[in-house]
Amino acid sequence: MQNIHINTHPIVQDRLTRIRDKNTSDMDFRRYLSEIAVFLCADATQHMPTKPTTVQTPLTSYDGVMVEGTPLIVPILRAGLALSEGMGRLLPHADTGHIGLARDEETHQPIEYLVRLPKKMDRPIFVVDPMLATGGSMIATLDVLIREGATVDDIVIVTLLCAPEGIKVLQDKYPTIPVYTAAIDDYLNENAFIVPGLGDAGDRFFGTE
Ligand code: PRP
Repeated sequence: MQNIHINTHPIVQDRLTRIRDKNTSDMDFRRYLSEIAVFLCADATQHMPTKPTTVQTPLTSYDGVMVEGTPLIVPILRAGLALSEGMGRLLPHADTGHIGLARDEETHQPIEYLVRLPKKMDRPIFVVDPMLATGGSMIATLDVLIREGATVDDIVIVTLLCAPEGIKVLQDKYPTIPVYTAAIDDYLNENAFIVPGLGDAGDRFFGTE
C-alpha cells in the first residue's frame, strides 16, 4: 500500500510478538512498547531536514550536520503517550501538542475531550497513536490539526498496529500522509478491536484494564 511503511526489523517484530501475548505483564508491555517507539521514530524522521554544523573533536574540527527546526509531536490521548515517550528520546527538542479522544464503546466514534496545541503549526508534525482501528480517531485528529493551521505535507503518522479498514479510511481522506507502523493486522471484530491485535493498548500501558 502506498505511503504505508512497515518496520520488519527483528527486534521490532520480537517486541511486537511479546506485547501481543496476553500474559505479558503491564511493566513489560510498557518497556517493549517504548523500545518499538524508538525504531518507529527513527523510520518516521528519516527525511527530517538537517543543517551543516561544525564541531571540534578532541583532535580536529569536523563538518557534520544537526537536525534542523523544532518538530511537533502530537500524541492522541491516552495511548499515544506510550509512543511519544519513545519519540521524545530521539527528539528531545520537540514540542508536544495533546489531542484527547476517547472512542465511544457502542458507536466506536471518537469523542474529543482535549485539544492543546502550540500556535506554531507550520513545521514537521508527528501524530502518534499505537492503534489505527476504524481510523476515526486519526481522521478526527488530522481534521483538528489542519483546522488549527497544519499543512498536510508536514504530517507523518506513527502507529504500532493498523487494521486494513482504518488504512482505507485514512487513505480515502488523506492519501498522501505517510504512516510508519510495525504491522497491518487482519481485520476489525464486531467491537472494532484489531484482530489478532493486542487488546486495548491504553488500558494495558496504563494498567487500567
Ligand atoms: C484507542 C486507540 C486509538 C483509537 C483507535 O483509544 O488508542 O486512539 O482507540 O480506534 P479508532 O481507529 O477506531 O478510532 P481509546 O479510545 O480506547 O482511548 P485510550 O487511548 O484512552 O485508551
